[in-house]
Amino acid sequence: MKTLRVLTGITTSGTPHLGNYVGAVRPTVRASRLSEVESFYFLADYHALIKVGDPARVQRSTLEIAATWLACGLDPEQVTFYRQSDIPEIPELTWLLTCVTGKGVLNRAHAYKASVDKNTAAGEEPDAGVTAGLFMYPVLMAADILMFNAHQVPVGRDQIQHIEMARDMASSFNHLYGEHFTLPEAAIEDHVATLPGLDGRKMSKSYDNTIPLFAPREQLKKLIMGIVTDSRAPGEPKDTEGSALFQLYQAFATAEETAALAQAYASGIAWGEAKQVLFERLDAEIAPMRTVYDELIQNPAQIEKTLRMGAEKARAVATPFTARLRHAVGLRPLDSLADTHKTSKTVKLAAPSFKQYREADGLFYFKLMDAKGQLLLQSTGFSSPKEAAQTMARLKKNGPNALAEYPSQLRLEADTEAVAQALSHFSEAAN
Ligand code: TRP
Repeated sequence: MKTLRVLTGITTSGTPHLGNYVGAVRPTVRASRLSEVESFYFLADYHALIKVGDPARVQRSTLEIAATWLACGLDPEQVTFYRQSDIPEIPELTWLLTCVTGKGVLNRAHAYKASVDKNTAAGEEPDAGVTAGLFMYPVLMAADILMFNAHQVPVGRDQIQHIEMARDMASSFNHLYGEHFTLPEAAIEDHVATLPGLDGRKMSKSYDNTIPLFAPREQLKKLIMGIVTDSRAPGEPKDTEGSALFQLYQAFATAEETAALAQAYASGIAWGEAKQVLFERLDAEIAPMRTVYDELIQNPAQIEKTLRMGAEKARAVATPFTARLRHAVGLRPLDSLADTHKTSKTVKLAAPSFKQYREADGLFYFKLMDAKGQLLLQSTGFSSPKEAAQTMARLKKNGPNALAEYPSQLRLEADTEAVAQALSHFSEAAN
């Protein structure tokens, strides 16, 4: 059974490199194959606009990152694989969250603070060159995560603060409007080291020291030959510690292969030869995927189709959930107001009702409906009818107060007010 919802996105601002592969693509593809995991993976193209002002580059990067995920084995039938900008509910949720987020909280976001500090150090206005998009980055990211009620978000360490902010926004919203959002957690892969780049610093677009994941074989070889090493001659023992070459090898090789290279370092392998070993090992893992990647890149229409299918799956969740959120905050059709007034007068005697039932999954459920048969509250599945009945009985006895006792077993399908009112009907009669 799928019990764990995992979600992550990659910003479509450049060409995927080895660091993206080891840090994000490879672990997410592996996780997506676990039977208990329900995965949501997406191309964060709205986020790309914050950093990239070149439309052709955003489009190209979107193609490349989508093709990368697919070439690395992501199965779009098994996961929900989509493009952020295909889900208009995400910017809508961004606004709802914006309205429960303290401006001071965003002032403290690392990326924004770094820009301000840089400006201040350079004697500029603190906000010089800072767009409101950069400032709002954490809210858009929270909307990505909360829209699908993700439990876990695999990210790099630099993103932990963003996940914490998403939790805070979820709590504030829940506090104001009822339990709608799951509080997400960052999932940090401790054993995945940050990959060094050509110059030994962290491999990153911003340092211009990356090795493109799907560089053609010859180019890959040339880049690897250009990795910085120290000046030790062939025959001299070499340090594995602090060797970018060694760390890169380690990220791809088995423990035995890594031990063998460490041995070769100790016995004075020439740098040129060590680079050749790294190149062959990398290419062995990458070459089969590169073939698929090259085919996919030649076929953008196919990828477009895959992404549209993913968007459809994602919106099957996002559209009804957004409707519920709109209702919760008071973005409601006015005729419903006329309706409730009428019903409260004319159907005063008709009562809300509980119904208990069993589903095809073998579990026991109950739901609460208002006098008109509108669904107000829905339970998750209980393994025994007794558990379902006991929970229902507590709701009847304690009314709205009992709601908080079962946060993960109950799903509000209408606004809190309406549910509370219906429950009071029972508790007042009982006490
Ligand atoms: N900010 C992330 C990064 O740069 C990308 C991203 C956008 C993301 N939305 C997300 C990651 C939601 C996880 C969940 O790496």
